[in-house]
Amino acid sequence: MSDKITIAIDGHSSTGKSTAAKQLAQRLKYIYVDTGAMYRAISYYALSENIYRDNQLHAQELIDSLDKIKVSFQRNEETDRADVYLNGKNIEKQIRTLEVSSIVSLVAEVSAVRAKLVAQQQEMGKEKGVVMDGRDIGTVVFPDAELKVFMTAAPEVRAQRRYDELIDRGDEVVYEEVLKNVIERDYIDSTREDSPLTQTADAKLLDTSEMNRAQQFEQLVQWAEEAMR
Ligand code: DC
Repeated sequence: MSDKITIAIDGHSSTGKSTAAKQLAQRLKYIYVDTGAMYRAISYYALSENIYRDNQLHAQELIDSLDKIKVSFQRNEETDRADVYLNGKNIEKQIRTLEVSSIVSLVAEVSAVRAKLVAQQQEMGKEKGVVMDGRDIGTVVFPDAELKVFMTAAPEVRAQRRYDELIDRGDEVVYEEVLKNVIERDYIDSTREDSPLTQTADAKLLDTSEMNRAQQFEQLVQWAEEAMR
């Protein structure tokens, strides 16, 4: 059997990254890590503790609280997924709201937050055999990953997918607002000073605008097999 490798999947929000990465990890019997969930967990903390108030993130207060924040994952027997926990409490549902989405890019701009989570991610993937998805996995977390993928899709397609997901969950949302959030997050994620989202020359581009889930999965499996040879 071939040795285990590290697979880094970066890209824009709502491109189908998590679904595809999770499926790929299942197929390879690798660990899957959704790093966006970790930034979302800290954003949820900022909202719950009033560190985000008056339409502003009080970054220094967040930095001062970092030692008190423990983000972890635990397997959910029912869904067979890893749910995210904040200080021992399952917050998987709470982190997927538009409220969290609307502040998460601000939280992800704080260097001390990134340093904490990057160190944790490197620890989780140190034995290889991991599929990690995020924005800076191939650039910062695992720059030596054997396979790097950059996923994207047209903003309107991504907003429609996100909108359908939120409606399915029973959330009341307006398509235009979801599109606005997608575009705003792209902008902040790609222009921030610390670890901006960028496609590196050694990453394979996967544009999912006109691909269904099965096609995305097939392409990823093919690349993974090539990288393992
Ligand atoms: O993948 P997602 O949409 O759940 O990510 C939420 C936000 O977290 C995204 O807007 C940018 C940020 N993020 C990041 O900066 N670095 C990562 N590795 C993962 C996510």
